[in-house]
Amino acid sequence: MHSPVRIGLMGLGTVGSGVFEILHKHPEQIARRSGGPIEIARVLVRDSNKPRRVPVPEDKITTDASLLLEDPSIDVIVELIGCPGGSVEPARSYIAGALRAGKHVVTANKEVLAKHGQELFALASEHRVGLYFEAAVAGGIPIIKSIKEALVANEMRTIMGIINGTTNYMLTKMAYEGRSFDDVLKEAQEMGYAEADPTSDVEGHDAAYKLAILASLAFETEIPVDEVYREGITKVTPEDMAYADELGYVIKLLAIAKAHDGAVEARVHPTMIPKGHPLAAVNDVFNAIFLEGDSVGELMFYGRGAGKLPTGSAVVADIVQAAQDLRRGVGGWLNGKAAVKRILSPMEVVSSYYVHAKVVDNPGVLAQIARAFGDNGVSIGSVIQKGVRQDPVSLVFVTHKVLEKNMQAALNQIASLPVVRRVANVIRVEGE
Ligand SMILES: NC(=O)c1ccc[n+]([C@@H]2O[C@H](COP(=O)([O-])OP(=O)(O)OC[C@H]3O[C@@H](n4cnc5c(N)ncnc54)[C@H](OP(=O)(O)O)[C@@H]3O)[C@@H](O)[C@H]2O)c1
Repeated sequence: MHSPVRIGLMGLGTVGSGVFEILHKHPEQIARRSGGPIEIARVLVRDSNKPRRVPVPEDKITTDASLLLEDPSIDVIVELIGCPGGSVEPARSYIAGALRAGKHVVTANKEVLAKHGQELFALASEHRVGLYFEAAVAGGIPIIKSIKEALVANEMRTIMGIINGTTNYMLTKMAYEGRSFDDVLKEAQEMGYAEADPTSDVEGHDAAYKLAILASLAFETEIPVDEVYREGITKVTPEDMAYADELGYVIKLLAIAKAHDGAVEARVHPTMIPKGHPLAAVNDVFNAIFLEGDSVGELMFYGRGAGKLPTGSAVVADIVQAAQDLRRGVGGWLNGKAAVKRILSPMEVVSSYYVHAKVVDNPGVLAQIARAFGDNGVSIGSVIQKGVRQDPVSLVFVTHKVLEKNMQAALNQIASLPVVRRVANVIRVEGE
């Protein structure tokens, strides 16, 4: 057995205390699997007077990051402080400082990686150390290691994921209980699934960070998070849920990335998927990632995308990997540079669409809308008309696949028709 690998743990909140608990639950097993013991040398927190749920010796707790970053006996920094208040600092600087000091770094911080990943991976490579980030995407699901290692033989074609548990919980409640967005948001907040400020989840930012990380890795190109097209779930109504059900779909917040010749598309938005699609059965706070590789074909990963122990499981796996790498004297990840791929603009993306229009109940309205679709090369797959002798009535269309540019032109034309009160919602359809 080797001498202990010493960890500097930054953050002792939900995930940090899960990591502490797991490392102390099975120390012999962890030591066996890491080639020697793992020891938590110091723990960084914001408030050293806060009562802790895990029994960390008081003399190990500090509020001074330099005691971790500048201690040459600390081999691995585990960054679990996150981005409180939406700021990447000090997490970004701590990670960079640790890499510069020649320490391996394990992080669960999707926001820092999505915004500063290129810079941090370059630093890791320059200093020949590892930057491990399994827990940054889909919590307990081992998707990063799978793409990096188990699926390395493949050229990846498609990634489609439910990678935000909060919105999946909310959409599940809306679909099965017919409740409104506001109503289920309140419940999700009471249950601790949604933050007091839910913007990052419900507007799709959290899923966009994770997709930028996943797709950059899978398609071997930088995908700046600002270039991920993003739409949240705030406009999804119980009415749309009911129409989706009638048409044979469910609505999920999907993160989608697809490879094209020399280009990549990356988008996060509410999506209708057929009830028979494997992702349609992923409910509540569960996450799932559906992948398609050129050799392996279709694969799906399913599990808990958040929580103390599931996320702790992914962080501890990275700590064990870092310890093994240290003990074998290897650092970092060996991967050459691929050609940079262009990110498609939203207007270049092809999809089918659900369009819900509120119209006056006059004969010939359907024909006028159908003409507007036809004028712009949009072909209609199915139509539902609901409500008679009321104003307005609902007309619902599902189109065949069409370029977004044509769809937007058709929607502008439809919205300007005097018989159309408003276009109530437009939702992309995938997975057919
Ligand atoms: N929660 C999950 O299920 C989950 C899942 C996947 C990924 N993640 C990621 O894991 C990371 C940690 O999340 P979490 O839920 O564990 O967060 P959390 O419960 O809010 O805990 C954050 C911890 O960091 C400490 N901290 C915050 N700012 C600090 C600063 N400036 N200096 C020193 N310490 C600081 C806090 O100290 P005090 O305790 O003294 O306040 C606390 O111990 C985030 O990047 C998050 O995105 C979380």
